[in-house]
Amino acid sequence: MTGANLETIPKAARKRLHVITWGCQMNVYDSGRMADVLAPLGYAPTDTPEGADMVILNTCHIRDKAAEKVFSELGRLRRLKEAANGRMILAVAGCVAQAEGKEILARAPFVDIVLGPQTYHRLPEMVAQAARAGGAVIETEFPAEDKFDFLPEQSAPQGVTAFLTVQEGCDKFCSFCVVPYTRGAEQSRPAAAILAEARRLIAQGSREITLLGQNVNAWHGAAPDGGTWSLGRLLRGMAALPGLARLRYATSHPRDMDDALIEAHRDLPKLMPFLHLPVQSGSDRILATMNRRHTADDYLRLTDRLRAARPDLALSSDFIVGHSGETEADFEATLTLVRSVGFAQAYSFKYSPRPGTPAAGAPGQVPEAEKDRRLQALQSLLREQQAAFNAACVGTTMNVLFTGPGRHPGQIVGRSSYLQPIHAIGSVSLIGDELAVRIRDAHPNSLSGTLVQERLSA
Ligand code: 5AD
Ligand code: SF4
Repeated sequence: MTGANLETIPKAARKRLHVITWGCQMNVYDSGRMADVLAPLGYAPTDTPEGADMVILNTCHIRDKAAEKVFSELGRLRRLKEAANGRMILAVAGCVAQAEGKEILARAPFVDIVLGPQTYHRLPEMVAQAARAGGAVIETEFPAEDKFDFLPEQSAPQGVTAFLTVQEGCDKFCSFCVVPYTRGAEQSRPAAAILAEARRLIAQGSREITLLGQNVNAWHGAAPDGGTWSLGRLLRGMAALPGLARLRYATSHPRDMDDALIEAHRDLPKLMPFLHLPVQSGSDRILATMNRRHTADDYLRLTDRLRAARPDLALSSDFIVGHSGETEADFEATLTLVRSVGFAQAYSFKYSPRPGTPAAGAPGQVPEAEKDRRLQALQSLLREQQAAFNAACVGTTMNVLFTGPGRHPGQIVGRSSYLQPIHAIGSVSLIGDELAVRIRDAHPNSLSGTLVQERLSA
């Protein structure tokens, strides 16, 4: 997008942009960047689609009836668009846009723009084109240029906790997953660009930064000195930034957990002792079918090494039950792995066949009722582990980074190092501070306690 093109767009004083976001943190980050890209055209965010000049649906295709949800939302928006005499630009972005492409325009011809995740930087051009030509614009190629080179610096501050995309795409091709198709090949941003963005976030008041990537620990970026850094080295660079209190990264693949990264957990107090490390299954047979390229034992040994490096480390994971070919014995192996590792928190899903992925057409699809039963059994075990982890926090003192006012008057809320929401009585002037809290009570999804004078040293 060149300045000259921008100038051809009449600068209406204020236009309202409403973005609806589904899916992962990456999509939340992308929605923010799309708003940034549209800000120079006069678009300011609004909370409702009513009266909006432009609505973007930023979609997720990872599970469930993603496309159906998008079409039903589009049905609702169509009425709003008609009520506005067509003066509402409707855009479908994200992974459903990438996967369904023309199908969206065929089923919902009132959509103006369909754009894949790699083309957000071209959004202003597409808006101009849609406004001028009145025809639909579709951009789902994987362009040669890197969108990060064309995106403006972030405008809106993200707040006390911020997300920063360092890596996109995935080369792993797990049997069940659409990401390598919708997000494309692995791409890492250069370290200097990441550090510059981190400095800006810190200057805007962020105290915690989570580095994001579909396969974030595969990050291998150009180093400021001309070489190549791995994620472990990048985390050291990030930890050296003044003003930053906390660092995290998500989501990782067990195969890309290298020595430098494990050493970063040992050496960097700012790197939080909480790691989301999806295992998906505890059965070696299913792990092989899934093309995960590790065994259950590899995962156990890896978590042992991580805990040896950082004894207070807690783990979170993703699981899929009912993957094609999964027997009762395979599922039992998953329960055994969960018992051996012990998770502080986890996400678990029923396998959902994604068109075009290898597992979707494979023999041995598990009946829905069986998937339901396995999911309930797994979730009840994971819930028990989470409750035990939270209960063990009662009576301890934890550092809490306060992020906002609580629901009750006089209360503030923040996050522990393990991302547990923690409520305490305290002044809103403490938002943005990391302070010690003596934990008094564990609730199903949060903890509460009383503020202690001093922050615990790491
Ligand atoms: N069905 C069910 N769960 C899936 N996931 C990814 N693809 C599928 C699918 N087809 C889960 C995995 C992944 C998480 C983000 O979503 O557990 O780690
Ligand atoms: Fe999908 Fe993650 Fe596997 Fe990549 S590593 S294919 S993103 S599940």
